[in-house]
Amino acid sequence: MTRGKLITIEGVEGAGKTTNLPYIQQQLEAHKLRILHTREPGGTEVGEAIREILIAPALPAMHQDTELLLMFAARAEHLKKKIEPALSSGKWVLCDRFTDASYAYQGAGRGISLERIAQLEGWVQGALRPDYTLLFDVDAHTGLGRALSRGEADRFEQEDIDFFNRVRQQYLTMADNNPQRYRVIDASAGLAEVQQQLRHIIAGMFA
Ligand code: TMP
Repeated sequence: MTRGKLITIEGVEGAGKTTNLPYIQQQLEAHKLRILHTREPGGTEVGEAIREILIAPALPAMHQDTELLLMFAARAEHLKKKIEPALSSGKWVLCDRFTDASYAYQGAGRGISLERIAQLEGWVQGALRPDYTLLFDVDAHTGLGRALSRGEADRFEQEDIDFFNRVRQQYLTMADNNPQRYRVIDASAGLAEVQQQLRHIIAGMFA
């Protein structure tokens, strides 16, 4: 059985990644692939319960280390129970956010050192890294505006614009540093144009 590939989807809030996920899945399925679509934090029963704690606006602010460790606790569960078995069975895994979100939000956003995050990444993931990362890039102001128009702000959406500028910048830096893995989508464009970019990117994976 050929092992599947891990594709992660990243971007600031309101960049359109979740909206476009079914389209990405459909494009991959056209290549006769079996897809597992999942998300972080979450993806398992325990992980979804951890997600509730992480995003609940009503809880008091948590220490940044607690936040980081909860992200990786949910990720450990996700990897062991869902992602690894799917990859081993030949499925391609399409994951709405993964460890690069920890570098962007807990690293650049909260100020935790990237080396510390790398230690957790090594511990929880071993050698596993995404095969491809699709970055939906939009300026933080536009993205946050879209996200906030959807309803009550979660704990992250309550952060100020500087926080999201740092998050976006960190994603762009990671894209620059990993050009073989990253594909950057201009998410300021309309839906039809974003989907055209996605078709092109996905076709390129099979060229
Ligand atoms: P979502 O907006 O994609 O549903 O994700 C929920 C929030 O979780 C989002 O604001 C980003 C945040 N997040 C982190 O801060 N670190 C992480 O490692 C992950 C996976 C998500």
